Amino acid sequence: MIVKAFSSSANLGAGYDILALAHNAFEDTIEIEAKNSSELDIKVEGEGVPLAVEKNSASYALYELLREYNVRAKVRLKVIKGIPAGLGLGSSGASAAAAVYGANELFKLGLSRQELVKFAMKGEIASSGSPHPDNVAASLIGGVISVVNPNSIKVEQVPINLDFELILIIPLVKIEAKTKKAREMVPKQIEISKYVANARYLSSLILGFIKGDRELIRLGLNDDIVEKSREPLFPYYPKIKEVSLLNNAIGACVSGAGPTIAIFVDSMSDKNKIIDESLKVCKAYGYECIYKLAKVSGGAW
Ligand code: HSE
Repeated sequence: MIVKAFSSSANLGAGYDILALAHNAFEDTIEIEAKNSSELDIKVEGEGVPLAVEKNSASYALYELLREYNVRAKVRLKVIKGIPAGLGLGSSGASAAAAVYGANELFKLGLSRQELVKFAMKGEIASSGSPHPDNVAASLIGGVISVVNPNSIKVEQVPINLDFELILIIPLVKIEAKTKKAREMVPKQIEISKYVANARYLSSLILGFIKGDRELIRLGLNDDIVEKSREPLFPYYPKIKEVSLLNNAIGACVSGAGPTIAIFVDSMSDKNKIIDESLKVCKAYGYECIYKLAKVSGGAW
């Protein structure tokens, strides 16, 4: 069986570990096959991916799912990466989402996409050391998702009533263990004023999506806590945001833990100028960046 899952951008400003958006910029593919066996045995294949089950987000998520449901089989899992890793595009989450989605079909486990999030997120332990559910939920379910309960893993789709596209500004860099490092940069304590500002951004963004109101989305795509603390990983971000807003983008945010920047645009935005100026900003900061246009996508299929 062949299954695919799209890339995603997590956080969307103030929604750290809460919000994520699936987009069709890139996709990962997995092939999964199984033979009868008296024990569970997973063999990982793929170019440029970790081959140890516990080191690979897809196989680790798959292992957790099959172990929970007592599945005994010899499983061959091939991971074909289309989503570049370490750039804040939900690469590890998409492979994990595709793997659990495929296993659910193959072994007829009858779980919903929501129920699969719990297992897919375990895959994030393999790649970043922590089981955050945002990227995997977006890649599994599609659209914009909100993690409303991280303990019982309840995830809801946010209705979107505005037609927009994303311009992803993607620096061609490789930072080892980036997500882990980026998570360590987030402050453990914050001032109440920052908390209030962030709560306001989050509510504006969600209201903006529901009402289809670009001004609310613009107000909402901000973050005074997590993006700020991680800025050394993407020093070009404030300037890219500035040139984007000057050219009438809806807004801009860091994609996941960065270093990719996601710029929200619609028919009122000067897309070409935003792309040109953003790439110039990258250069001025000494980064080589590419851009990719994307639309909000559906879940794994
Ligand atoms: N919410 C996670 C973070 C996403 O910002 O660390 C990581 O891809």
